[in-house]
Amino acid sequence: MKAIFAESLTKIYSGDKKALDNVSFELSQGEVFGFLGPNGAGKTTSVKLLNGMISPSKGSCHVFGIDPSSSPEKVHAISGVVTEHAQMYGNLTGLENLVFYGTLFGISKEESQKRALALLERLDLTPAKDKKLTTYSTGMRQRLSLARAMIHTPKILFLDEPTSGLDPESAQSVNNMIRELASDKGTTVFLCTHQLRYAQEICSSYGLIDDGTLLAVGSLDALRNRVFSGLNVHIKSNCFPEEIPLRQTEGQWAEINVQTEEEIPPIVKRIVNAGGNVYSVTANKLSLEEIYFSLIEKRKEKKEVN
Ligand SMILES: Nc1ncnc2c1ncn2[C@@H]1O[C@H](COP(=O)(O)OP(=O)(O)OP(=O)(O)O)[C@@H](O)[C@H]1O
Ligand SMILES: [Mg+2]
Repeated sequence: MKAIFAESLTKIYSGDKKALDNVSFELSQGEVFGFLGPNGAGKTTSVKLLNGMISPSKGSCHVFGIDPSSSPEKVHAISGVVTEHAQMYGNLTGLENLVFYGTLFGISKEESQKRALALLERLDLTPAKDKKLTTYSTGMRQRLSLARAMIHTPKILFLDEPTSGLDPESAQSVNNMIRELASDKGTTVFLCTHQLRYAQEICSSYGLIDDGTLLAVGSLDALRNRVFSGLNVHIKSNCFPEEIPLRQTEGQWAEINVQTEEEIPPIVKRIVNAGGNVYSVTANKLSLEEIYFSLIEKRKEKKEVN
């Protein structure tokens, strides 16, 4: 059974705003899926649809075979959600909040307490566990809402920008936790984020959305094949023979795209034979960030033509 199955998912808000337009994709269990796209692309709308917080205008979706719009409570039992506005109680301490939500899921108080303490420790919140939520900083709140989303050990976690307010160290520890959840417990993670470098470190597949339209879905290599699957080579030298089709960038640097690394040594040889010194050669596949900008840019151009 697929963790997520979405078919022609469409959401038109009142005022005729088409926030999602015929979006279809599926996700296997244990994947860490990076859902990427600019502001207003439709990411949060998708999370809300997949959790039954809103209903689709057209099409449908299933989470582990459950339709969230007809059985939201069944989806809530197996999913954890972290959005910008997590409901928690300011007057309760961090620990009390977690225990409260644990018992709401039918977990005993003792077990809730045990799980809560482990999560607080994992998210570096132990020193603040007995402090009221009102005294928490934004980043502390964000980590507590992550702990809250995991108190019932969900099969699937929906994280809407979970690291946006976190300092680099906390963001790193949350990312490590996401990776561990997927690899050790087989938890499926649906991660909306703008932080493309982090996404590339932790995600196993991606969906790229813009203006309600899904532009691409798949692994990093699958997305790369949509743009350029070869290598981007940067060379620093004091002399570039004219017959090599290099693009001079700045200073003594030039770049060239090649299909395989076998093409690199002959280029270097030609530079050296022409009397040049080669100071540096780097060869990289396109990063997630480069793929993202390329696909978004292509779509912009297409929109301008139409
Ligand atoms: N309740 C609503 N009523 C009307 N329009 C809405 C509503 N919620 C969202 N929208 C619109 O739907 C579109 C998609 O919004 P959504 O919140 O899903 O984007 P997002 O990808 O999560 O963006 P961000 O990166 O800024 O969080 C936007 O144009 C937004 O203005
Ligand atoms: Mg959003």
